[in-house]
Amino acid sequence: MLPADFASSIRTIPNYPKPGILFRDITTLLGDARAFRRAVDELVQPWAGSKIDKVAGIEARGFILGGAVAHQLSAGFVPIRKKGKLPHQTVRMAYALEYGEDEIEMHVDAIAPGERVLLVDDLIATGGTATGAVKLLKTCGAVVEAACFIVDLPDLGGADKLRQAGVSVRTLVA
Ligand code: PRP
Ligand code: ADE
Repeated sequence: MLPADFASSIRTIPNYPKPGILFRDITTLLGDARAFRRAVDELVQPWAGSKIDKVAGIEARGFILGGAVAHQLSAGFVPIRKKGKLPHQTVRMAYALEYGEDEIEMHVDAIAPGERVLLVDDLIATGGTATGAVKLLKTCGAVVEAACFIVDLPDLGGADKLRQAGVSVRTLVA
């Protein structure tokens, strides 16, 4: 099979959400049936046939991809949400990203200690969000097998930061 050209399926919006940011918009990839299927197939490929208990997806675009990845791996799905959205008791982590600061949280009982977890999001930039998510998962006793993303923004160093923290990282396009 020819290598997929994911970059051509992703739209760039200048100056969103703040001046100077080039926003990489994956909604165009999601709306393209072939590109969406191919991206999910390539994200899961290293773990096909291995035991992943839970896929953790980061709000908001990580929910779309994470749900599809969890289904393909026959794994459960755990939402990692922006603060204040989950109904049950949570664990919370503050983090910084390319254009601001926020807090993410997950249900305290979403992962059983020792469960093998794959973290999924659409994009890694500074790595603030994903690093915070890995810390949350580990707080709950998860074994974080890897983190995967469609887009890497290498100039912002997030994927390297996550690897330095001992997490295996898979990305499809830089
Ligand atoms: C984007 C993206 C990642 C995060 C990556 O989400 O979907 O979650 O930024 O940035 P980082 O590597 O610098 O942390 P955003 O915070 O824009 O939220 P949204 O998905 O709810 O729009
Ligand atoms: N999250 C952080 N930086 C981003 C960017 N440039 N495009 C899309 N999502 C992002």
